[in-house]
Parts: sequence; structure tokens; C-alpha cells
Amino acid sequence: MLKLKEIVIGTCNNNKKTEIRKILNGIPVRLLDLEVFENPPNVIEDGVTFEDNAIKKALELAGFCKMCVMADDSGLEIDALDKRPGILSSRYCGEDTGYEEKCSRLLEELKGVPFEKRTARFRCAIALAEPDKLQFVVNASCEGIISNEPKGSNGFGYDPIFYVPEHELTMAELGSEMKNRISHRALALQLFSERLKELTW
Ligand code: IMP
Repeated sequence: MLKLKEIVIGTCNNNKKTEIRKILNGIPVRLLDLEVFENPPNVIEDGVTFEDNAIKKALELAGFCKMCVMADDSGLEIDALDKRPGILSSRYCGEDTGYEEKCSRLLEELKGVPFEKRTARFRCAIALAEPDKLQFVVNASCEGIISNEPKGSNGFGYDPIFYVPEHELTMAELGSEMKNRISHRALALQLFSERLKELTW
């Protein structure tokens, strides 16, 4: 059985990396940044699901790093928009468009849609792969409502328009401690740690 001592975090997104490090703090495995490796490939995310993309990223990066790599794919699904932006969340309105603009474009698309029909969820898939071998993949989601206006300045991406009914706040108003308990990434990372235990101790 694979005895894991080190894992590369296969993302260059600093916001994600910070969340991953905070949530996985305490696992008996050293986490390395992808930036440790020179010129990592930009993996084309052409899968149909978050899981497809997470697996593809983990396998390609593990082949490149010659180490175990964890990779995630995540995004926002809005029911009233037929689950858009979904796997295209980071490319919505163009990759170079900032999130203030992306959020206001989504709110524009949802103009007139009543609160009860603004249901949405963040999804996250995380895969762990060795070169040429997928170890496992986990999936989780976090349910919410798209608000009428952006609120809050914590978090990143679509957090300011993602209202969490249980807390009566947007994800960007919640603060990192609470977000890191309830978010799609937090839940997926909990599942990830459980699976990881089988490979590490
Ligand atoms: P990825 O880097 O291809 O996984 O793209 C993730 C996309 O979903 C980006 O557009 C993110 O802004 C968005 N996203 C993923 N997780 C979160 C989150 O926790 N909060 C806000 N937006 C997120």
C-alpha cells in the first residue's frame, strides 16, 4: 500500500490554497506548493463534470511532478440558469473579467427571479493521484441562495452573492473560520482527509 508522506497541492489559486492548508492543518503529510516545480503545465479543463476535471488535473500534474498530487475543481451552479456557470465558473464572461463584474452579470441574469427560485450550490471535487494512478476522488456541495446584491468582503470569487440561509449571511460576510467549516471545499476536504488516513497511517 502507498505510504504517503508528501502531497503537492495542485493549484496556483492562492485563495484555494490558503483554505486547503487551513482545513488540512494537522494531517501527518507535508503539503507542497505547485510553485516549487518549474513551469507546471496549465491543464486544460475540458471535462463535463467537476469530478472529470479534478481527476484530469491530479493525474496530469502527478505525472509532471512525479509525486502525489491533490487537485480540486469547483464552481457555482445556479438552478434558475440551468446550473450555469457550473464548470465554467472561472471562465464566466471571460477568464480575465474580475469577480465584481462576474457577480453583477449573474445578478443581471437573475433580475426578477424571486428569492425561492434563486437556489444555488457551490460544488467541489478533489482528486488524489500518483503518476499514472488515481487514488480516489471525493465530492461535496454547499447549498445557498443567490442574493439580490453583493455583500461582504471576505472569501473570494462568488462569495459576496452566495447567501447561506442557516447563517443569514453571504459567504463573504461569514468570515474564514465559519466558511472553512461549512463550505463545499471544507466538506470535500473532510472526506478527503478520511480517505487519506487509509493511505497514511
Ligand atoms: P477552478 O479554479 O477551475 O476550480 O474554478 C473555480 C471557480 O469557482 C472560480 O470561478 C471560483 O471563483 C469559483 N469558486 C470556487 N470555489 C469558490 C468559493 O469557495 N467561493 C467563491 N467562488 C468559488
